[in-house]
Amino acid sequence: MCGIIGAICDDSVNQVLLDGLKRLEYRGYDSAGVTLLNSDGLEIYKFAYLTESIDKLSQVQEVVDSKSKIGLAHTRWATHGIPNDLNAHPHFGCDNRIAIVHNGIIENFRDLRNALKDSGHDFASNTDSEVIAHLLEENLSKLASEKLSVETLLKAFGQTLKLLEGTYAIGVIFADFPDRILVAKNMSPVVIGLGKSGNYVSSDVSAILEQAETFVYLKDLQMASVSKDDLKVYDFDFVQMEFSSTEIAWSYQDAQKSGYETFMLKEMHEEPKAFSETLVGRNVDDPALFFDEIRFDPKDLQNIQKIFLVGCGTSYHSAMVAKYALEHWSRIPVELDIASEFRYRDPVLDSSTLVIGITQSGETIDTLAALDFARKSRAKVLCVTNVVGSSVTSNVDAVMYTRAGPEISVAATKSYISQLSMLLAFSIAMGRTTGGLFKSEAYRFMDELENCTDKIRTALTRESQYRDTAKKFKDVKDFFFIGRHMGYPTSLEAALKLKEISYLHAEGYPAGELKHGPIAVLDDTTAVVGIATKNKLYDKLLSNMEEVRARNARVLVVANDSDSTVSNYFEDVFYVPDTFDLFSPVVDIIPLQFLAYELAIIHNNDVDKPRNLAKTVTVE
Ligand code: M6R
Repeated sequence: MCGIIGAICDDSVNQVLLDGLKRLEYRGYDSAGVTLLNSDGLEIYKFAYLTESIDKLSQVQEVVDSKSKIGLAHTRWATHGIPNDLNAHPHFGCDNRIAIVHNGIIENFRDLRNALKDSGHDFASNTDSEVIAHLLEENLSKLASEKLSVETLLKAFGQTLKLLEGTYAIGVIFADFPDRILVAKNMSPVVIGLGKSGNYVSSDVSAILEQAETFVYLKDLQMASVSKDDLKVYDFDFVQMEFSSTEIAWSYQDAQKSGYETFMLKEMHEEPKAFSETLVGRNVDDPALFFDEIRFDPKDLQNIQKIFLVGCGTSYHSAMVAKYALEHWSRIPVELDIASEFRYRDPVLDSSTLVIGITQSGETIDTLAALDFARKSRAKVLCVTNVVGSSVTSNVDAVMYTRAGPEISVAATKSYISQLSMLLAFSIAMGRTTGGLFKSEAYRFMDELENCTDKIRTALTRESQYRDTAKKFKDVKDFFFIGRHMGYPTSLEAALKLKEISYLHAEGYPAGELKHGPIAVLDDTTAVVGIATKNKLYDKLLSNMEEVRARNARVLVVANDSDSTVSNYFEDVFYVPDTFDLFSPVVDIIPLQFLAYELAIIHNNDVDKPRNLAKTVTVE
């Protein structure tokens, strides 16, 4: 969840590190720190000022004036040890000759720490991460008979990594080796950027897009030695390994606010593009399965008996939309699983099972672990992700990329829309694969899907109406979102969006379920938002809305433009363009994203960096 950035360059690296931290802030912002190597050795400056940590760091004169050509920086999302200056990264070994930054969790840190303490190491923090610096120091000292060289460093680093249990992206610099950054990875992302005037390491490519030209994603259980003009990759036994570079289509500009007040607002406005770009090239030659990377024979999909969809948060909600569409068109039974539960519930998997993992970042540890479990159970495993080269892509049979561009705001908006676009196109193609759809029908649905781009665009032109209506609900503290059929996943996603950025209580419910318990909560202090766009359960949904109104709850509905009667019954309506029911989640969510956004702004919240949350969840 934390963010790491490192640089080794011809010129001073201080600004690259500070700018990079700003771009990584969405990964965690409890604390921030930097280590810079100068002629006096390693200097570390670190602060726990929550959202102002990076600003505080940027005001340190020594950091501002630094001419250091090598350094590492870190932005923290606390797991072990409260956010305070001592627990902030980087961490030193005992003699201040080694500085490390870490993202992940070292699960066996207590045993390692106790053993190191017995050997005389003193610890300055309560973190699991500090153990890495001391262990490396200890292993280096054991190799003291060898002449200290980069080779010795790498051997000691490999030995250290073999003793760590857990997840990590680690960066290390040494006072005695001003020309070297070491990095390693297990289940937490590390990307190495190669540039003209230096090389860079980071947890996220968006932090180094401006400086680097080519990018190398480290694989699990690999370590790398990065100098100003060279990169070498090894396994932990110090055996050199081949690596390949990845092209990144994103530009530095894509990861800027570009005049918008917040990233979330900018990203909502990019939804039509995210949706349509994801479909480019997928509506050709008989709507067919289209994979961006493939390592199996797609004909195998004709024999699939069951499909599991797994994801977390918003990605789980797009999986739910896909379940309805996939079952409808392919007639294959589909199960839906929260990724963090999947492998623990002992699901029945075999070679006739298809498991699809959905993850924007490609780094969510629960989803990675679920897919790893599925692979080991001989299932066919596919992923839908937005990040080229991310961890998920290396351990699956095929990859489908969404093309949303970098999403910086913690709240997923355009990535959700692009996941829907990808998964709905995949569902149509699976309908063709299993014979559930005729070719002409598949074409018709693909065209209809492509038409959603204009509908999203139309919905976005109503931003100010959505905002004005949202304002009327500014004093409400409890929200229920209810929907039926395709309105149900929308209700879940709308509730999640509202919760995470406005900090208000919100729940998504299948509307028919409300009277089985939750209706007891309703009174005039609660609001119920009904997804009342046209589908086969429209009338039933309206009846459910009447039931809640009879309990004095405030009501708001999302309805179609063609619905001329809904305003006779409900005063507050978000209108959206009419959309084929299986595709309606794509359009219906737009006003509800604005509802969440507006209420977050009214409550003075930092919408891009909501409290307690990180964009990429790399811990269980
Ligand atoms: O990167 P992923 O799609 O795997 O992330 C999954 C969730 O952490 C993510 O969707 C989260 O729920 C969002 N912040 C929701 O807006």
